[in-house]
Amino acid sequence: MTDNNCGHYARTLTGDEKEKLSSDKVVISDFKQNKLEVEAKKNWDLFYKRNKANFFKDRHWTKREFEELADCSTENGKQPVLLEIGCGVGNFIFPLIEEGTAFYIYACDFSPRAISLVQENERYDSKICKAFVCDVTQNPLTENIPPGSVNIATLIFVLSAIHPSKMLYVFKNILEILQPGGLLLVRDYGLYDQAMLRFGPGHKLSDNFYVRQDGTRAFYFSEEYLGKLAEDAGYEIVVNKYVSRETVNHKESICVPRVYIQSKFSKPKHKI
Ligand SMILES: C[S@@+](CC[C@H](N)C(=O)[O-])C[C@H]1O[C@@H](n2cnc3c(N)ncnc32)[C@H](O)[C@@H]1O
Repeated sequence: MTDNNCGHYARTLTGDEKEKLSSDKVVISDFKQNKLEVEAKKNWDLFYKRNKANFFKDRHWTKREFEELADCSTENGKQPVLLEIGCGVGNFIFPLIEEGTAFYIYACDFSPRAISLVQENERYDSKICKAFVCDVTQNPLTENIPPGSVNIATLIFVLSAIHPSKMLYVFKNILEILQPGGLLLVRDYGLYDQAMLRFGPGHKLSDNFYVRQDGTRAFYFSEEYLGKLAEDAGYEIVVNKYVSRETVNHKESICVPRVYIQSKFSKPKHKI
C-alpha cells in the first residue's frame, strides 16, 4: 500500500486484494494523462450523447442522508438557495423538485448536452430553477450566482471526476458563492470501493485515481484526503465519514461491498 493510504479505512482488504493494488504500479503516460484532462468535457458530453438521461437513477435518498435538504428554514426568512454542481441530467435535483422543495435551485455541469437534457425535462421549471453550463475547474461560479448567496452547495459523485490538482480550486470556487455558515455537501467514492479494486492494469493515473474505458475518471477518497482538502480551502469540517453499503449484483449473483464518502463542510460564519 502506498504511503498516502495510511489512516483509517472503511474496509479491510484480503491478501489478494492488497497484492492486486500494490502490484498495479504502471501509470498511464503524461501525454495520455494530459489528453484526458484536455478532453474531460468532451468525454462527459459523449457519455450523455450515448446514454441520454438513462444511465443514473433518480437519487431519492438525498433528504434521508442530508437532513438539511428537507429542513430548509433560513434565519433571515429569505428563500433558501441550493447549487448542485455537476448536475448531469438532473438525477439529484428532479426528485427534490417533484417532492416540492422550498429551495431556489441552481444546477450546473460542463457538459452542454447534460444541461440541454435538464432544460428539456418536463420537471424543469425555470421559475424555481436555473441550469447553466460551467466548468467548475475554470469558470468562477460568481459569473452566474451572486457571491455569498447560496445556503447549500452539493457535489454528488462529481469531485471524483476532477483531476486532484484542480480539487482545491473547485472548493475555493464554491466557497465564494456560499453564505457565511453555508454548507457544502459531498457524496463520492471512498477508498477501496469495489469499483476501485476492479480496475485492471493500464487504467491507473496516480494513487487512487483511475480512468474508465470511456475516458471518464474516478478518484477514490480517504477521509484524511477529503478532510484536508476542505480545511486547506477554508472550510470547517462538520461531518466527514465513510459509508459502507452492500449491493447485490444480480447478473453475477454476488454481494458487492461499496464504500462511499459522505461529508458536510461549512463556510465559517465570520468569513465573507
Ligand atoms: C457521475 S455524474 C453525477 C451527476 C449528478 N451529480 C448526480 O448525482 O446524478 C458526474 C458529473 O460531473 C460533471 N463534471 C465533471 N467534471 C466537471 C467540471 N469540471 N465542471 C462541471 N461539471 C463537471 C460531469 O459532466 C457529470 O455530469
